[in-house]
Amino acid sequence: MVFYQVKDYEEMSRKAAALIAAQVVMKPDSVLGLATGGTPQGAYGQLVKWYRQGHLDFSQASSVNLDEYRGLSGEHPQSYRHFMEVHLFDHINMDRSRTFIPDGQEPDPGKACRDYDGIISKLGEIDLQILGIGANGHIGFNEPGERFEGKTHCVELAESTRKANARFFEDGEEVPKQAYTMGIGDIMKAGRVLLLASGAEKAEALKMSLYGPVTPGVPASILQFHPNLTVIADREACVEIRE
Ligand code: PGA
Repeated sequence: MVFYQVKDYEEMSRKAAALIAAQVVMKPDSVLGLATGGTPQGAYGQLVKWYRQGHLDFSQASSVNLDEYRGLSGEHPQSYRHFMEVHLFDHINMDRSRTFIPDGQEPDPGKACRDYDGIISKLGEIDLQILGIGANGHIGFNEPGERFEGKTHCVELAESTRKANARFFEDGEEVPKQAYTMGIGDIMKAGRVLLLASGAEKAEALKMSLYGPVTPGVPASILQFHPNLTVIADREACVEIRE
């Protein structure tokens, strides 16, 4: 594991963007595993800046996102498709037809998951998988449970996750109860994993994930077994970790 402790969210975002940019420069047809949420948003903003300055070219890259709420269309302002459009895809030259996100509007979970697994297999290896971490240790929407799920599956979102994400929804609008998420097996197959964490609310999860027992009760703990894991965490997210 390569571990970078940085000062704050801005530094984490710049460093993460630099690693993603390096990936695309070194291998223009990279498959990027992308995440949504407050954590990677700053890194995407930095990538957009560098793209506008002419430093980056995404024309040959593909992307595959971790997850999507079940029941939301791509136009819904809280869908992850919409998040990706607004924060990244609208501003760079990635071919839209090579950006993949589970189809939240597919009502049949079996079909939604099978279709997405098909897309992941066709793309081949994910070169760089970006991950945030939930305060409960989830990655993607792989919530704490009894076992690690290998492939794309439909999950019941943990109450704590729905509460944490309620901040993005309009007042009174319900956070969906289910989501389609890439499995732990898919994440572990990525050539390189970049785990990002910012803020005190992630400190316990980060410590348990990196230094606690490997258990499906803390899904991110499986990353201890990944042969090429890079962690960028800010000071607040590291308060529980002693040197
Ligand atoms: P956040 O979510 O980036 O919005 O904190 C991370 C996660 O839940 O995986």
